[in-house]
Amino acid sequence: MTELCPNLTLSTSLPKRADAVLLGMATINQDQPALVGLLPDLDKAYQKAYGTSISAMAAAMGAAAKEGTVTTLPSVDGTRVLVVGLGDADVTPDGVRNAAGNGLRAIAGLADVENLAVAVSLELSDPELIQAAGEGALLGSYRFTPIKAETTPAAVQSVTLVSPVSNAGGKSAVELASVIAEAVCQARTWTNTPPNLLYPETFAEAARSFLKDQKIAVEILDEKALEKGGYGGILAVGGGSARKPRLVRMSYAPRGASAHLALVGKGITFDSGGLDIKPAGQMAGMKFDMSGAAAVIAAIHAIAAAGLKVKVTAYAAMAENLPSGTSFRSSDVLTMFDGQTVENYNTDAEGRLVLADAIGRAAQDSPDLIVDVATLTGACMVALGLRTGGLITNGEETSDLLLDAAEAAGEDFWELPLTEYVRGQLKSPVADMKSGAGNRWGGALVAGAFLERFVPEGIGWAHLDIAGPADNPEEAYGCTPKGGTGVSVRTLVALAGQLATR
Ligand code: BES
Ligand code: MN
Ligand code: ZN
Repeated sequence: MTELCPNLTLSTSLPKRADAVLLGMATINQDQPALVGLLPDLDKAYQKAYGTSISAMAAAMGAAAKEGTVTTLPSVDGTRVLVVGLGDADVTPDGVRNAAGNGLRAIAGLADVENLAVAVSLELSDPELIQAAGEGALLGSYRFTPIKAETTPAAVQSVTLVSPVSNAGGKSAVELASVIAEAVCQARTWTNTPPNLLYPETFAEAARSFLKDQKIAVEILDEKALEKGGYGGILAVGGGSARKPRLVRMSYAPRGASAHLALVGKGITFDSGGLDIKPAGQMAGMKFDMSGAAAVIAAIHAIAAAGLKVKVTAYAAMAENLPSGTSFRSSDVLTMFDGQTVENYNTDAEGRLVLADAIGRAAQDSPDLIVDVATLTGACMVALGLRTGGLITNGEETSDLLLDAAEAAGEDFWELPLTEYVRGQLKSPVADMKSGAGNRWGGALVAGAFLERFVPEGIGWAHLDIAGPADNPEEAYGCTPKGGTGVSVRTLVALAGQLATR
């Protein structure tokens, strides 16, 4: 495991070194809160030090079962003890993930802590719950390392999940949790990295180096290769910046796989809007516009690291959208990778252009399903807010597949419709289609209708618009930090898991 995430292990007892222990509190019957995961040795030490049980101390300090609450009890022998609310005793994966996230966030946020060894004891034996707790704990301890003259040490170094059982199911759940959390944390860090440091060339190289330890073939198309390949969309969008665009192709093809999943991510390392420039206030967050690309790179890493028996080909379309003398314009007609022509509606509608080329390329591999992920439209944020992503597909079966995966992963997506009216809005007098409708109504749907034109008949397609949930500008909650969230990595890995077992 790299330094991206604390190390995660499973144990049936309290490890020798524990700088902090996280216990739970749940409502057992009606409104009776009770401690969950109490450890006899710790309780003994507590009795000795304070003459009272942890349970009595928790009650005295007002520890509650309410989800989202974290209570810090007095430390014992240098071990901090925290109690996190689990809600009802009948816990769900989502509830456990968020509770562990809240607990670890509280621990990682304590003053002057570094490289802590943390034990999480929530009395979980179901592998699904163990995985969720592991994910929550690791995701909750995430902190973006600030770019400072002096290096900042990690707050949490290791997490031990203390469970009544330590069987094969539990162990593989813990492994899967660390593989997923590591991927999500990498996606977050890329998203948080400023655009002068993360631009197409450096992003592509970072992807290559992150994937080095996996059986994934990585191919980086630079501007010359893009020119040769006829990637008119990516080249147009990237044309205004001195930092040239890239298309990263990543392929994981394990023996015995039957399904083939293609992933496509929007990797705009900074979206100024281009010549149709954004006002300063709307440009500020636009380093996050590569979150879709970060998600697909991270997801293929996790899928390969977990050894899932599914073929995955991922494409990250990277460009910087800037105004300059070499920028593309509104009303330009572009010839896309698949040969179709597009009348460019607005240079700020750049995401769909890079995605269209990458979807066209992905289709050549004849996958069963293409899933694209993009911070595509402000309209989707207006519709669904900051915590729900938009889903658009070309078939009900695909919608069900994606919604099931998202639910299992604890991520929130809501399906939006494509109608003939919306499709009809893309007619152009000068090209095969236009890239926008000419008005702002239903902008998320219009973008979806455009992307759909690049998916050949017979290939399933789903589009995840993560403009809202990719970045959390508010306070952290559950296992979601402030800033880049790494959203959709978990959904994509869950989806791959479902395709692998079909
Ligand atoms: N990257 C933006 C979408 C976005 C906006 C993401 C706000 C997160 C927060 C995208 O490239 C964009 O600018 N979309 C335009 C499209 C319009 C010009 C058709 C938009 O949503 O306004
Ligand atoms: Mn834009
Ligand atoms: Zn954009």
